[in-house]
Amino acid sequence: MAIYIGICLAVVYGLTATTEARADMKDSCQWKCLVFSQLWPGSFCMTFSKRFCKIPNQVNGWTIHGLWPDGKEFCNHTWKLTRKEIGNLWTDLQKYWPSLISNSPFKFWQSEWAKHGTCGTCADNMSCPHKYFSLALELRMKFSIDEFLSATGIKPSCYNGYTYERFCAALSDLCPFVNLQCYNDKKRQVLVQIKIFFSKDLSIGCNASQENFIHPYCKPCTNKSEIYLYPFTEHPHNPCS
Ligand SMILES: *[C@@H]1O[C@H](CO)[C@@H](O)[C@H](O)[C@H]1NC(C)=O
Ligand SMILES: *[C@@H]1O[C@H](CO)[C@@H](O)[C@H](O)[C@H]1NC(C)=O
Ligand SMILES: *[C@@H]1O[C@H](CO)[C@@H](O)[C@H](O)[C@H]1NC(C)=O
Ligand SMILES: *[C@@H]1O[C@H](CO)[C@@H](O)[C@H](O)[C@H]1NC(C)=O
Repeated sequence: MAIYIGICLAVVYGLTATTEARADMKDSCQWKCLVFSQLWPGSFCMTFSKRFCKIPNQVNGWTIHGLWPDGKEFCNHTWKLTRKEIGNLWTDLQKYWPSLISNSPFKFWQSEWAKHGTCGTCADNMSCPHKYFSLALELRMKFSIDEFLSATGIKPSCYNGYTYERFCAALSDLCPFVNLQCYNDKKRQVLVQIKIFFSKDLSIGCNASQENFIHPYCKPCTNKSEIYLYPFTEHPHNPCS
């Protein structure tokens, strides 16, 4: 962590004139909630039937979709992400924040930074790219869906689904503050994404905007039928057929 912060400060001081200028920006966040979204590569490609989509070799679990200040986008058009700012995070990001629909993860990180990261720079924990990406990795480790699920015996399978309640129990204290999103595979609910809502101070739970529950490719999972966690296969567009 110390190394991360060191690099980050160097970057920040290179960009802003004085520490006072930074202090001014501190509480300028125009958003209330932070949405941390993780996706399940085993089923994510199902939502892109016609597009290139694959699970990179180094990926073996839930990956980061994004860390999004709620309701704000594209807050600073001049602040472009450079490779240098990713620095020592590169290997971890490739594993935990890959792109499944492009061969260039860096382009994905650039677009996430431009669209979402630039809106987080008002908060200390995200005040520059290196901090923003470090924080996302930290949250990925702390809120490891893989660990929560496997600890209660939920395993990827084409044949066995689990009740909503079972997933909720696996997520334990997080359950009331998450949104499970499912894709509809011939009447089966297939888990694709989990969003965790945080407050600005990173405490769990926040009343995020309704847009978080609407997606073109998936919708909130319900407790009306079992939910499937599909395995990683050679055919991610159609893992179970
Ligand atoms: C926008 O980004 C530039 C760097 O490209 C930075 O100098 C400036 O302080 C940023 N503005 C805000 C409001 O964060
Ligand atoms: C975020 O920053 C606060 C103080 O600014 C600190 O207490 C907290 O540990 C940080 N959280 C993470 C996950 O880095
Ligand atoms: C959450 O936000 C909605 C509007 O977005 C509001 O109607 C509702 O009362 C809020 N709930 C809480 C607990 O703050
Ligand atoms: C199932 O979901 C409905 C609404 O979606 C809710 O009212 C009900 O309390 C849920 N039942 C259980 C057992 O969680």
